[in-house]
Amino acid sequence: MIPAKKRGNLVLTGMPGSGKSTVSRRVAKALNREWYDADAMIEREAGLAINEIFERFGEEHFRALETKCLIKLLRRENTVIATGGGAILNNAGLLKKNALVVYLERDLEGIISTMKAEKRPLVKDDPERRIRELYEKRKSLYENGCDMIITNNGSLNDAVTKITEAYYAYFGNQRP
Ligand code: S3P
Repeated sequence: MIPAKKRGNLVLTGMPGSGKSTVSRRVAKALNREWYDADAMIEREAGLAINEIFERFGEEHFRALETKCLIKLLRRENTVIATGGGAILNNAGLLKKNALVVYLERDLEGIISTMKAEKRPLVKDDPERRIRELYEKRKSLYENGCDMIITNNGSLNDAVTKITEAYYAYFGNQRP
């Protein structure tokens, strides 16, 4: 039985640099569902970039905004949501109750090369060490906080197809 509260929502969790935004946007298109990026929504509502929120107000403040944003998004139905990599820290129960949660798992080497190339603020000093540390701390949270694990080590199309199929297998085939 599918918990009624999941309401056709799909959430992608996973490490920064695992491809959550890119993959989930394509999945939403394939499923004909609305797509939201929680970080982009937080930035829009705060009128500040994520790194500015961190710098000016600290991580705890950002985490509170993140939880508020996720609560708001998860009131909707039939949505596809990309979460920030740290969303799992305080919101695992919330996410799992209100959505099919897919942990998008990617090889650390791939994550590290993306993070180095993109110079993301969270790991701007010594990205390789920071990523390995984050991964060690979060691996089990991602694993325990998801309904399924889907790997993103191949092509974008592969990941999109696997998730789209998993979505239909879970929720059934009706489109809104
Ligand atoms: C964070 C990941 C970022 C963003 C913020 C914190 C984290 O999102 O939410 O910088 O703690 O892992 P991405 O996973 O999209 O990079």
